[in-house]
Amino acid sequence: MKTIIEPFKIKSVEPIRFTSKEDRVKILHDAGYNPFLIKADDVIIDLLTDSGTSAMSSDQWAGIMRGDESYAGARSFYKFEAAVKNITGGKFIIPTHQGRAAEKILFSILGGKGKFIPNNTHFDTTRANIEFTGAEAVDLLTEVGKHPEQIAPFKGNMDIEKLESFIMKTGEENIPLVMLTITNNSGGGQPVSMQNIREVKEVCKKYGLPLFLDACRFAENAYFIKMREKGYENISVIDICREMFSYADGSTMSAKKDALMNIGGWLSINDEELAVKCRNILIVTEGFPTYGGLAGRDLEAIAQGLVEIVDEHYLEYRIRSIEYLGRKITAAGVPIIEPPGGHAIYIDAKHFLPHVAPGQYPGQAIVCGLFIEGGVRSVEIGSVMFGTYNTSGNLIPSVMELVRLAIPRRVYTQSHIDYVAEVVIEVFKNRSNMKGYKIIYEAPVLRHFTARFEPL
Ligand SMILES: Cc1ncc(COP(=O)(O)O)c(C=O)c1O
Repeated sequence: MKTIIEPFKIKSVEPIRFTSKEDRVKILHDAGYNPFLIKADDVIIDLLTDSGTSAMSSDQWAGIMRGDESYAGARSFYKFEAAVKNITGGKFIIPTHQGRAAEKILFSILGGKGKFIPNNTHFDTTRANIEFTGAEAVDLLTEVGKHPEQIAPFKGNMDIEKLESFIMKTGEENIPLVMLTITNNSGGGQPVSMQNIREVKEVCKKYGLPLFLDACRFAENAYFIKMREKGYENISVIDICREMFSYADGSTMSAKKDALMNIGGWLSINDEELAVKCRNILIVTEGFPTYGGLAGRDLEAIAQGLVEIVDEHYLEYRIRSIEYLGRKITAAGVPIIEPPGGHAIYIDAKHFLPHVAPGQYPGQAIVCGLFIEGGVRSVEIGSVMFGTYNTSGNLIPSVMELVRLAIPRRVYTQSHIDYVAEVVIEVFKNRSNMKGYKIIYEAPVLRHFTARFEPL
């Protein structure tokens, strides 16, 4: 059959509260024009993030009841550990309450002033945790990944030549590890090819550097490899995942993405000495090594989520439904990062609003437009999130100005997605009347979460 259906039935539903356009104008004003400050009850379709917003399966809910809440040595931990090892082959599995907790632990040991950590593109929490230690986070994305309109199968790849020359210039003694983010969230949810992972590993090996995967969307990445990389058409997704992880010396993970869970994460490490150090920090900051920052029931639900995420019917539906939204809005002329990514559609705000300068935050203007038009919550990934200031206080804009429509896993049906497409197209039709925004309050780090804006 040509029609790809949601590979699940709905057993429990949550009502959506509808608002009028006038309601939404006031709601947005009261939230300082920042979608993070809007109450969820005031949102009709919530595409702020795919993180922690998945619908759990009946088997995951059953796991919640089975959870063993023993402080030490809980049965649920061993189930979780086995499920993570089954996919990653990692030696030491450290549970954390979410991805950034794994990052914090890892970089508090390996980071520090004078250190440099390359990645294809660091996610904002990864960058913040690295820079918090005084180290520098370096992005070495392949050139094609920086051009939203160009179509290529693996726009999340790392530039291998840049990596090698960066190591030679910086000195391997100043690089504690190399990272690869799969898929590349900040670069449009674009996948990394197996060949690229293998080549990055070869460079790392040459200079004696460990390779870590930021593995949040490992299953989506694996499915893209199956669809797009020669030689993998007939390999199962789980075996593709195992091969991806086989090149890594460790991984950080947010179970809020590809473990279909509302909370959780892990730090997987092969080096025993490093794992012991990380566990010691875990005990101080998160909890005992067999629960980390989680309850036993969370560990159970993650273990089950890891079984469901590599189901190829699920992944086919997941990747094709993102593409469906992408194709609906591009057919109306809306510019997006091509091709559609694994968990989100990224609107190219620079081309959507060419008359709004980066310093007037075109992405934020689209985010506000989508909310007022149809109560759709999205997020800016551009100069609000990544812009910095030079010594004279002038904005250094982000390379790309994007708006992310992140699709929660197993939450919305096709008619919800049709509605979103209609809202985006409506805003696009009226784009010539749209104006930019200015920031009237910002925090010193991760400003996008709490900043307040005013329309220009
Ligand atoms: C690529 C990537 N790394 C790390 C994180 C951080 O994970 P968490 O939100 O669980 O702390 C995220 C979250 O969105 C992410 O997308």
